This record gives sequence, structure tokens and C-alpha cells, in this order.
Amino acid sequence: MLKPCVRLILISQLLLLSTQYNRKLDNYTLTILPDLPPEHLKRFLNTFPKIRTECEQIQECQNILKTFNNISQVQGNEISSAAKEGQESGVCWGHEINCTRELRFQTPSCSGDHTGWVQSKEAQINTFYYQADFGYIQQQINELLLMCEPKFLTDSSLECNKYLKFCRGRNLLFDFRNLAGRAERIRYHMDVLNEGGIKGYCRFNRSLLTEELSHMGALQSWSPELRNFVEADESIIENETICDMVITTPTFLMKIDASYNMYHHFCDFFNLFATLFVNQTHPSAFDLNTQVIIWETYPYDSPFAVTFKAFSKNPVWTLNQVKGQRICFRNVVLPLLPRMIFGLYYNTPLIHGCEKSGLFRAFSEFILHRLRIPFHPPRRKIRITFLARRTKYRRVLNEDELIAQLASDEEYIVKRISFERGLNFLEQLTITRNTDILIGVHGAGLTHLLFLPDWAGVFELYNCDDPNCYRDLARLRGVHYITWEKRHLVYPQDEGHHPEGGAHAKFTNYSFDGKEFARLVSKLANYVRNHKKYNEYIKNASPPREPKDKEEL
Ligand SMILES: *[C@@H]1O[C@H](CO)[C@@H](O)[C@H](O)[C@H]1NC(C)=O
Ligand SMILES: *[C@@H]1O[C@H](CO)[C@@H](O)[C@H](O)[C@H]1NC(C)=O
Ligand SMILES: *[C@@H]1O[C@H](CO)[C@@H](O)[C@H](O)[C@H]1NC(C)=O
Ligand SMILES: *[C@@H]1O[C@H](CO)[C@@H](O)[C@H](O)[C@H]1NC(C)=O
Ligand SMILES: *[C@@H]1O[C@H](CO)[C@@H](O)[C@H](O)[C@H]1NC(C)=O
Ligand SMILES: *[C@@H]1O[C@H](CO)[C@@H](O)[C@H](O)[C@H]1NC(C)=O
Ligand SMILES: *[C@@H]1O[C@H](CO)[C@@H](O)[C@H](O)[C@H]1NC(C)=O
Repeated sequence: MLKPCVRLILISQLLLLSTQYNRKLDNYTLTILPDLPPEHLKRFLNTFPKIRTECEQIQECQNILKTFNNISQVQGNEISSAAKEGQESGVCWGHEINCTRELRFQTPSCSGDHTGWVQSKEAQINTFYYQADFGYIQQQINELLLMCEPKFLTDSSLECNKYLKFCRGRNLLFDFRNLAGRAERIRYHMDVLNEGGIKGYCRFNRSLLTEELSHMGALQSWSPELRNFVEADESIIENETICDMVITTPTFLMKIDASYNMYHHFCDFFNLFATLFVNQTHPSAFDLNTQVIIWETYPYDSPFAVTFKAFSKNPVWTLNQVKGQRICFRNVVLPLLPRMIFGLYYNTPLIHGCEKSGLFRAFSEFILHRLRIPFHPPRRKIRITFLARRTKYRRVLNEDELIAQLASDEEYIVKRISFERGLNFLEQLTITRNTDILIGVHGAGLTHLLFLPDWAGVFELYNCDDPNCYRDLARLRGVHYITWEKRHLVYPQDEGHHPEGGAHAKFTNYSFDGKEFARLVSKLANYVRNHKKYNEYIKNASPPREPKDKEEL
């Protein structure tokens, strides 16, 4: 055991190291290493050992590796048994066929009962792993089928998985000429392409593709597009006369859900992240030199648009940039979609009793790292963020009273914020990453829970008769979730007015009983205080009998 003061130094060292690591990556991003958090980079290098060898031959690259080894040691991330047993050198993500449980990024925790669902605890954990963790990625990869087979390297190719939820192709021609003449704006359309609208010079197995066309929905699969695939008579790559534009940058075509709603738009981003793993067969898998083309002719506009910078350094395009032309893609990926049947995370049926998906934690860390969101270690006072809605519905009528009550408690640092106004998205993420308890009424702002630290809790004040949405999202991310328990202590303003008529709990405002509110927050605060990772920071940061920290005053 180290003495408290030594630990204190370690913590500041850690923060310094993190900053250095980011700066070095920024400077060096990177001829060899992708821009990833340390725990992710380690796994990347195990997937592509050649890169590690290359890196070791360059002094500066070597230094980066040393720095991140130090960070992950000090940070003691949940590398769990692998790290303890000194097996770190073999760590993997979890979708790889030979990745053992001890070496995975994280294993779900299933403390809830499994009876009535599956036969055994083991089966329960596995079910969750294949529903919502890296097991899900493994399944997507296992399902891949070669739809159009190249004879030579310069030919086209098309690979897709079951129901065409993910595809990737080389040297494919997409014909957008008819789009130029269309009067209506395109979004969720299934008729963007005409018959023969996608061409590849390769041996096409039509019956194989036809078998997978059954999920014919705009956001469910790529069936509406790929039913138009035909074999080309001549080579596409060698023939510039048949392409109006050749895009050599690896491209993601994206059918997105809703750009203004955080819950739905992050479902788009989440699936793009998952796609990086399904397509991870080459070290360029985490490259930022990619092109995103959104499958719409509405101009792309979103308060969360900056999130695309985690995936691509190039400006986002829409179909407007390609309409009227025949586009030849050297490398094109049709990513997993936001509303797949049994997809993630919209309406996902999850097995009872399990939580903590490594895939979700990886997503959270990836976004926070790539967007350079600063991290401040927690303190003894619990940092509470209260999401104030500035919308027409689901306002908390006695918000002032509830917040004043929390603020009067010495144990808490309370912030009230409205994500609808003022703060840009990076500032919002900075608050979330440094919050221990997030409180808010049912609403898309609660999607921020994805970016809370591992020890955090979320309090959905009232779920408005939609109990699964954020409870499940919290489960997936692995943060603790509570909601209002006593119905007679919440007071709706009226019965609610659905815009299409009828009473509806989502369309009114609420007051909450103050005493009950305080009880629930204190319950959550206790959960945080007892969390192992939170405690590691507290022990390190606040040695006993020291004068009060400045920041706490
Ligand atoms: C980053 O690069 C700049 C310009 O090449 C250089 O001046 C600076 O020292 C570098 N910083 C680090 C941390 O290596
Ligand atoms: C990593 O930690 C070791 C031991 O604490 C130290 O000697 C070394 O200088 C550190 N390396 C870097 C690159 O920070
Ligand atoms: C899995 O197999 C790959 C390729 O054979 C190998 O490089 C890697 O070390 C293996 N990983 C584990 C955890 O055994
Ligand atoms: C197409 O795929 C099916 C199913 O895998 C297979 O049975 C058939 O032989 C393939 N046809 C050709 C022409 O390769
Ligand atoms: C290119 O396409 C044109 C028009 O279809 C065709 O006449 C020509 O033979 C093709 N060239 C090659 C090299 O395939
Ligand atoms: C998908 O994987 C292929 C093959 O490894 C790679 O060349 C391509 O760049 C990747 N596509 C994207 C969009 O990242
Ligand atoms: C809820 O509060 C908002 C803002 O004060 C108000 O515009 C709205 O009419 C209220 N809703 C109901 C059902 O009273």
C-alpha cells in the first residue's frame, strides 16, 4: 500500500500523462497508430501485431506506447483478471473467435435472477453478451456472405451479412442520375435507386442475396437498395468512362434515424461505432480519413453534429453531393442501422438481470477520447447534475425547491443545466463526463447517461409510463438506474394532452414530493460512494485529516 501523499502524486501524474498522451497523439496522428484510448490501442495492437513491430522501430512511437502503458496501470481500468495475472499482453475485445472471457474488454454482470429466462447463469451471461456486447459483433461477422465474388483483385466485390444489415463492397457503382429530377426531399425513402442502380464487376449470386431481402424497411436493412444490384459487363475500376466521380476515400453510406433527438441520433453513432468492428479486417479500421454520406437530400443539421468528428475528419455529405451522377466507390461500407430487428439499442429486447456491456463502455470511451473531453477525478462531494427541460412538456414545476433542497446539503455539489439552450454539445459532454449523479425527467437528454463515468447513477425522475427506454440504456452502459417509486407522491399538472388527442403521461408537467426526492437522491449517492472505482479516486485524492480542498469550498 502506498501512503496517501504518494497516491496524490500518482493521480496528478495520471492526469498529466493523459494530457501528454493526447497531445502526442494529436501531434503524431498518426502515420502508424490510430487515435484511441490506451485500453483500446492495446487491443488494436494485439489484433495487428505488425503495427506494434513497426511502432517499436520508431522512437517517438515507442514513447507513446510507454506512456499509455503507464496510464492504464495507474488508472487501473477494469482490465480485471487479465491485468492481475499479467496476461495483459494478450487482451482482446471479445468478438474475436479465440478471445477468452478473462481477456475480454469487459464481461457483463448478471446479478439478477435467470430462472424463467434461461437454464443457467452461464446461459444468461452469454445471452446478454450476444444480444448487446462484443458477442453481437461476433455474430455479425460470422453471418458474412460473399454476394458477388471477384476473380481478380481489381474486380468488384460485395459481402453482406444476414438480412443485409451490414455490407461492404469494393469498386461498386451507384447510379444517382435519376435523383436529380426528383422534386421531393429524400428521407427514409426506399426508392432512391432504380433497378440496376448498383453495379459490380464480379460473379453475382442473386439467389443468395434474394434470400436475405426479408427485412424490407428503410432503417432496418440495406435490402431496399441492394435489391437493385446487377452484374456489370465491364470492369468498374479500370473504366473511368462509366463513372462521373470516383471516390477513393473509404466511405460510409448512412441511413440515419433522427438528427435532432439525442436518443435516436446516438443510435446512429452507436451503430457506426459497432460497424468499425464488423469491418475491422485491416489496420485502417479506425482511420479518420473516411467519408460519410447521409442517405437523404435534406441538408444535414444537428446539435450533435460534432460527434461525426470522432469518425471522420472530412465534412459530412448527403445525397445532394452525389445526385445526378454515377459514383464509383473504391471502398464502401453500408453500416449497421438504427432500427434493425433485434438491433441496438432502439427497442432491443434484453435478457432480464444483466447489465454492463463492454461494447457500450467502449463506445463511451471512444467518443470522449476522440472529442478530447476533459476528465476531472471525482471528489468526496457528489457532483449532481439536474437536467432542466425548457420544453413545452415534462417540466418540473417545483424544480427550484428541489434544487435548493439538494444544494443545502453539504455532501453535494449541484448544477442545474438545460441542454436545450446555450451549451454546445462538447460543453455538455464535459459536464456529463464529470457528473456522479444525473437527474432528469423522461426525455432524450437522459441519453447523456452514456457518457457518465462507470460509478455514476442516473435518476429518471419520472418515466411517464415508458419504463424501459432509459432503464435499459443505463443497463447497457452499466450505470446505476433508479426512478420514482411512489406514484401518490408525484403530481401531474393535468392528465396530459397527446397532440393527436387523448390523455398521455408524456404531455404534461410534474411536481414531486420534496422529502421523497431527497430520499431517492441520497439512496443513489450511497450507491456512488460504495462504488469501488469511485472509492479508488477518493482515497487517492483526499487523504484523511487534510484541510479542506480549495475546490470543495
Ligand atoms: C508537436 O509538434 C509541434 C510542431 O511540430 C512541436 O513544436 C511540439 O513540440 C510538438 N509537441 C509534442 C508534445 O510533441
Ligand atoms: C512510466 O513509469 C515508469 C515507472 O513509474 C517511469 O520510470 C517511466 O519514466 C514512465 N514512462 C513514461 C513514458 O512516462
Ligand atoms: C487469436 O488468434 C490470433 C491469430 O491467430 C493471434 O494473433 C492472437 O494472439 C490470438 N489471441 C488469443 C487471445 O489467443
Ligand atoms: C449461390 O449461393 C447458394 C447458397 O450458398 C449456393 O447453393 C449456390 O451454389 C450459389 N450459386 C452460384 C452460382 O455460385
Ligand atoms: C468502359 O466502358 C465503355 C462503355 O461501357 C466500354 O465501351 C469499354 O469497353 C469499357 N472499357 C473497359 C476497359 O472495360
Ligand atoms: C472497411 O474495411 C476495408 C477492408 O479492411 C478497408 O479497406 C476499408 O477502409 C474499411 N472501410 C471503411 C469505411 O472504414
Ligand atoms: C407545462 O409548462 C409549460 C411551460 O411553463 C407550459 O407552456 C405548458 O402549457 C405546461 N403544460 C401543461 C399541460 O400545463
